[in-house]
Amino acid sequence: MIDWKIDSWRKFPIKQVPEYSDMDKVASVEKELSIRPPLVFAEEARRLRKRMADVAEGKAFLLQGGDCAESFAEHNANNIRDSFRVLLQMAVVLTFGSALPVIKIGRLAGQYSKPRSSPFEVINDVSLPSYRGDMVNDMAFEDKAREPNPERLLQVYDKSASTLNLLRAFAGGGMADLTKLHEWNLEFVSGTNEAIKYKELASQITSALEFMNACGMTPENTAQLRETEFYTSHEGLLLNYEEALTRKDTITEEKGWFATSAHMLWVGDRTRSIDEAHIEYMRGIANPIGLKCGPSTDPDDLLRLIEKLNPLNQAGRLTLIARMGSADVYKKLKPLLTAVKKSGLIVGWCCDPMHGNTVKASSGFKTRKMDDIMAEVRGFFEVHNEMHTVPGGVHFEMTGQNVTECVGGVYEVNEANLADRYHTHCDPRLNATQSLELAFLVADLLAENRTNLAKKIVAVS
Ligand code: TRP
Ligand code: MN
Repeated sequence: MIDWKIDSWRKFPIKQVPEYSDMDKVASVEKELSIRPPLVFAEEARRLRKRMADVAEGKAFLLQGGDCAESFAEHNANNIRDSFRVLLQMAVVLTFGSALPVIKIGRLAGQYSKPRSSPFEVINDVSLPSYRGDMVNDMAFEDKAREPNPERLLQVYDKSASTLNLLRAFAGGGMADLTKLHEWNLEFVSGTNEAIKYKELASQITSALEFMNACGMTPENTAQLRETEFYTSHEGLLLNYEEALTRKDTITEEKGWFATSAHMLWVGDRTRSIDEAHIEYMRGIANPIGLKCGPSTDPDDLLRLIEKLNPLNQAGRLTLIARMGSADVYKKLKPLLTAVKKSGLIVGWCCDPMHGNTVKASSGFKTRKMDDIMAEVRGFFEVHNEMHTVPGGVHFEMTGQNVTECVGGVYEVNEANLADRYHTHCDPRLNATQSLELAFLVADLLAENRTNLAKKIVAVS
């Protein structure tokens, strides 16, 4: 990588940096982080890059999801278990619908920082630094709480390590066993239409598993039935944290530099300027990375970004995460797809139907409507089908908890009851039922694609 060092980003203009009062303390925290063990291993990130290459080629489907912002207060085993469980349920629904392997990536074990539209928040004429995620400061609107504290970077490392540890235990230790599918239901989901649909699907899978069992393939002798690969990701926003956890791969020939805070990092829509620090850092790491593309993304700028982030045009290296908003998805995505397709550059395409659809309810709560979210997903598939490109995956903000943050869906959360269980530290998340509902929608769209594809093949032959 020409002229790149793990700290070369420091020479570039940068956005979204917290203003710390004690820079010596920041430096000592960075030093401490740089000698801690990596959270993930280079080979895992490389394996994910292979999986993402399959996503780009339509041989696998990506499911990425989790909190908008993880929080220290909600960091506990039950929450991690419930998020993991909903993601697995969604994955089962998607695997069944698409007959494709589903690549599971959590917005988990490191998603603790948030870009903000303004550095200050003003309430009743009092102005304080904006809340930038638990990685930086505290959400409470008080002087002391909002003061950025570098010690929090160490806390993020510790919390991420323990989350990751539990996720690994779940993924390999029996929680993902397909023969236990029926037991995965969350109490409050039961009774809903989604729960019934899920149970039906689980029964069909159980029949298939019984057949395979009779043929000699059991969870005891076949790891694929018992385990799953589960990856982690977050927005790579605080580059000093990422730099401190960037390590040279010493084991394989490739000898690249890897971000070891997570398997995958993405660049947000607010920090993706081509000549700025975030792109500089990302271009040098060998992990699979994501790039958020909002409605302001210009097709030519996008091509230049892709070339910079993936100069060798490797499949699996770069996934574009489109977040256009339901009203604009067709109009905004089409020129990007057209330009990328014409260029021959290899990328995966993923739909984030959350961030372009955030509205303020009359009660003042930030919310998202299930109808808009679904419309964006449908629009995303529609453009891809028209362009004969690959709708590779979905990216959701969701939780396993029974929250009331997005409106609509089978439970009929409405604007009046948003306040009941509105717990998010940032953007409104789908609750478990809403997440499942979306998984069924996406599975239907994928199944439709499969049927269309089969028809085309028949027509050609
Ligand atoms: N190992 C396969 C996979 O991860 C099958 C599988 C096992 C699975 N447990 C799962 C799929 C849980 C989805 C959810 O895809
Ligand atoms: Mn968000």
